[in-house]
Amino acid sequence: MRVIVEADADRVATRAAALVAALVRSKPNCVLGLATGSTPLGTYRELIRMHREEGLDFSQVTSFNLDEYVGLAPTHPQSYRYFMQVHLFDHINIRPERTHVPDGRALDFDAACAQYEQRIREAGGIDLQLLGIGSDGHIAFNEPGSSLGSRTRLKTLARETIRDNARFFDSEEAVPKMAVTMGVGTILESRRCLLLATGSSKAEAIRATIEGPVTAQVTASALQFHREVIVILDEPAASLLQRREYYDDVEQSQRVYEQQTGRIW
Ligand code: PGA
Repeated sequence: MRVIVEADADRVATRAAALVAALVRSKPNCVLGLATGSTPLGTYRELIRMHREEGLDFSQVTSFNLDEYVGLAPTHPQSYRYFMQVHLFDHINIRPERTHVPDGRALDFDAACAQYEQRIREAGGIDLQLLGIGSDGHIAFNEPGSSLGSRTRLKTLARETIRDNARFFDSEEAVPKMAVTMGVGTILESRRCLLLATGSSKAEAIRATIEGPVTAQVTASALQFHREVIVILDEPAASLLQRREYYDDVEQSQRVYEQQTGRIW
C-alpha cells in the first residue's frame, strides 16, 4: 500500500481528484468505482471544477457505485443514487445510462446483485475504485465479520454505522438497517483502489487497515492483498500510524519517479 499523508482534507481532495483525472485523461473510456459519504465530497467538487474549467471529459466514462440503502427510492434525498446525482453526476458530462448504483428496491435481490456483478464484468472491470472507510473499518458496507471473498449482496448494517450515518437522517431510527453492497471480493478485483480518510475518528480504523493484521473484523485490511492501493490521509487520520517516516520516504522516491517518467500512476 502506498500511503500519502496530506496536511488537511482539502489537499486530500485535490490529490485524489488529480489521480482520478489522470486516469480519465489517459483512458477516456475508463470504469470508475465511486463511493458516497462525506469523505469523497471534496474530491467530487474538485472533479466538477476540472470538468468546468479544464474540460475534463467524462463522456465515455462508466461508473459503478459501491452500495445503496435497502428500501430507499432513487429520488429519496438520503439514497446514494440521489447523493451521486446531486454531488457529481448532474454537474459533469457523464452519460446517465453509464452510471450504475445498486438498486435498493429490487424485488429479487439475489438476481439484482448477480446482475450488478455481471454488468461490472461486461464493462471490462473497474479500473479505479474510490473508497472511504467506516469508523468500524468497513469498506463499502462490508461490516466487521464480512467474508473477505464476498460479492455484491445484502448486508445488515452495524449499529456503529447506523449511529455514524444518523447525521444524514432525521433520527437514528430512520436509517435503513440493510444495504446492498459490493463485496470485499468484488472490490479486490478492481485494478486500482484509492482509499481516502480524513479526521481523527478514522485514525484507529486506518491504523488497523494499514498496519494491523488482515482480518474480517476490519474489512478494509483486505486491501493489503491488493497490488495497487493508494491511501490518502489527512494528518488526524494518519495520527496513529507507527511507520509514518517510511511512508514519507516512499513518497519522496515516488516524486522522483514521477518527475522522471511523467506518470502519476
Ligand atoms: P464517511 O463514510 O465518508 O461519511 O465518513 C465512510 C464510510 O462509512 O465508508
